[in-house]
Amino acid sequence: MKMNPILEIKNLHAKIGDKEIIKGLNLTVYPGEVHAIMGPNGTGKSTLAYIIAGKDGYEVTQGDILFNGKSILDMSPEERALEGIFLGFQYPVEIPGVSMTNFMKAAIDAQRKYQGLDPVKPGEFLKMYREKQALVNMPDKIKNRSVNEGFSGGEKKRNEIFQMAMLNPKLAILDETDSGLDIDALRSVAEGVNKLRNKDNAFIIITHYQRLLDYIVPDIVHIMYDGKIVKTGDKELAKELEAKGYDTLVKS
Ligand SMILES: Nc1ncnc2c1ncn2[C@@H]1O[C@H](COP(=O)(O)OP(=O)(O)OP(=O)(O)O)[C@@H](O)[C@H]1O
Ligand SMILES: [Mg+2]
Repeated sequence: MKMNPILEIKNLHAKIGDKEIIKGLNLTVYPGEVHAIMGPNGTGKSTLAYIIAGKDGYEVTQGDILFNGKSILDMSPEERALEGIFLGFQYPVEIPGVSMTNFMKAAIDAQRKYQGLDPVKPGEFLKMYREKQALVNMPDKIKNRSVNEGFSGGEKKRNEIFQMAMLNPKLAILDETDSGLDIDALRSVAEGVNKLRNKDNAFIIITHYQRLLDYIVPDIVHIMYDGKIVKTGDKELAKELEAKGYDTLVKS
């Protein structure tokens, strides 16, 4: 018997202003799965990620998004995060004046409060911080700096994976984690994802490059085109795409 899906997107239609961007998208993700979504620029991949995370400015006009069997369309972004949805940003924000440790402690305590738990004890928090730091090869010098302020592109991305490791989400959506990463950073980000993946969580990796998928081997690859998923396959589909390009593949 198959488990219940973590995420179920049914016939989703969504618009920004008057413009329909998502045009009848279906996607089902089960626990333990890593999905990759590929697709040309402007096809709605980031929009889809933002809609799942609950960002303002998008109007869902049809369809539903279920997370662990419950519709999340009426939930705030904070509630969705507390339920266990994590979105790694294509362009991570900087938070001047807030150190990484304080930022992470606040995030973890909010999550614990939602689960009816007391704030994490400082000693326990530091232990966890060190463990996860080691897991994702996050340099120690970052700890006392403000969140993302003056971080290089690679450091921001690594930081995003670190935050994911700390929060231990049920569903993580990573948008273009390979953009601008050097090969070592790419590898350690992928290693982080590989260490964090388990039978209870799931990942959606949005990427343009087959290269990332050599390191994070997806169970399922989708091709998104003009606001819909038009093809689904295994990791070979990403290779075929690299060889043929979108136009040939989507029209074949
Ligand atoms: N705030 C906005 N206002 C108006 N149009 C928008 C807005 N955000 C996105 N769009 C449009 O929605 C479409 C989908 O954009 P989206 O960023 O989701 O594409 P994408 O698939 O992530 O592209 P890329 O591969 O370049 O990251 C584009 O045509 C874009 O111009
Ligand atoms: Mg995008």
